[in-house]
Amino acid sequence: MTTMVAEQQLTVFEKGAPGRRAFVAPALDVPEVDPRALLPDALRRSEPAALPELSEPEIVRHYVNLSKRNFDLDSGFYPLGSCTMKHNPRLHERVAALPGHARLHPLQHPSRAQGALELMWNLERSLAEISGLPHVSLQPSAGSHGELAGVLLSRAYHEARGETRTKVLTPDTAHGTNPATVTMAGMEVVKVGTAPDGGVDVDDLRAKADESVACLMLTNPNTLGIFDANIAEIAHIVHDVGATLYYDGANLNAIMGITRPGDMGFDIVHFNLHKSFTQPHGGGGPGSGPIAVSDRMEPYLMDPRIVRLDDGGFDLRGDSPDSIGRLRGFQGNYGCFVRCYAYIRSLGAEGLRDASATAVLNANYLLARLGDLAPLLPLAHGERCMHEFVLSGAPMKRELGIRTLDLAKRLLDHGFHPPTVYFPLLVDEALLIEPTETETRETLDAFAEAVAEILAEAAEDPEIARTAPHTTPVRRLDEAAAAKRPVIRQAL
Ligand SMILES: Cc1ncc(COP(=O)(O)O)c(C=O)c1O
Repeated sequence: MTTMVAEQQLTVFEKGAPGRRAFVAPALDVPEVDPRALLPDALRRSEPAALPELSEPEIVRHYVNLSKRNFDLDSGFYPLGSCTMKHNPRLHERVAALPGHARLHPLQHPSRAQGALELMWNLERSLAEISGLPHVSLQPSAGSHGELAGVLLSRAYHEARGETRTKVLTPDTAHGTNPATVTMAGMEVVKVGTAPDGGVDVDDLRAKADESVACLMLTNPNTLGIFDANIAEIAHIVHDVGATLYYDGANLNAIMGITRPGDMGFDIVHFNLHKSFTQPHGGGGPGSGPIAVSDRMEPYLMDPRIVRLDDGGFDLRGDSPDSIGRLRGFQGNYGCFVRCYAYIRSLGAEGLRDASATAVLNANYLLARLGDLAPLLPLAHGERCMHEFVLSGAPMKRELGIRTLDLAKRLLDHGFHPPTVYFPLLVDEALLIEPTETETRETLDAFAEAVAEILAEAAEDPEIARTAPHTTPVRRLDEAAAAKRPVIRQAL
């Protein structure tokens, strides 16, 4: 027993024995080639690489045991705010694994990949309908990659008009990727403040919006879980100075089928297929961040584009004279497109609307349950939130001597993944909670009860939360050191 546990702590390099194999290749039935003929000496190691040598059962146990040490959406509630950790339907995995999808080579000639192109074209049409913006590119690999595409499009748009605009307005409630993207695109971030109601400070926006502004990047609902009631006025102010409007659509899970960025006057929106549209994420799979744009941005959209031909077939075209070009190799993360399309087709328009409505209902239910738990302070401006909400642990820290981080870690002992903590930055001791539509009322109740228990326990003995977690494979970690100095390879 002890030996087995100790064995599980070893890295894959410390297991196995020289010569041990999981698979024995059949004897060669073609002439053997001297590897030195394939790779020049200068590129070869002097010693063979020290690779692990294990039997198949050892490999299976190694990875299965590692997977059990993780917290995942399939084993528990994962209310990570701003991340939309909703259930990933198994049907999507089955269709993505069909050989016609999974074995398609990215260099396959378009004439032999008609089904894939048709799926992508249909997906583009669906995302255009959901966003209210007619032109779509599926290329970007993540939300932040979509942001980069959007800012580059905005710059191309202004340059084509002979304007040099260098500033991008970003509200201080924005996700961190927004200002990072602006900087990466070589433009200047100008922060816009937040009004007491949690929306954009319209006076501050008016003061900063001038002819040097290329774009406003807005997340709506924002990271406080609030839908900006002044959206029409905001769009008007920005368009009035000739700037473009970028909609960070990562929080689309609150509004799908209910309202559309295009109808609000936005020019560009990105989607997080790995959030709103069920692509597994958070270590579980690659992302996808398509963008949809208005007519005036279309000439600059990335190439190549999928086109429908007169005979009903599909092709890729890469000759748009004003396009910003390619943003990545091939067409994007195709498996994400299959899952997303399966989701949209199986839910339909009504289903998507229902998903958003239920996500908002679940968040409000949990807010109502947790909002009563002094000393946690609900920050829903007004009574309601959208798909997520923020609590401040500042009173809890003052009165019970435990911090938001302690509460988060103690939740792991109750079998729950913690919510997002210390974000948004403008809230002291923030907890950002997003339950999603795929959780039951029983789960939400159990979570609220766990929080209540932790608070009651901390009133008696705060040390238990301060030293949590106590039941997980690893205890409290030095997260700053893990982020700044990760040790990700075995010293050989
Ligand atoms: C509001 C918001 N915008 C942008 C992003 C960036 O998306 P990604 O992580 O796919 O780059 C996120 C991700 O969590 C987000 O929550």
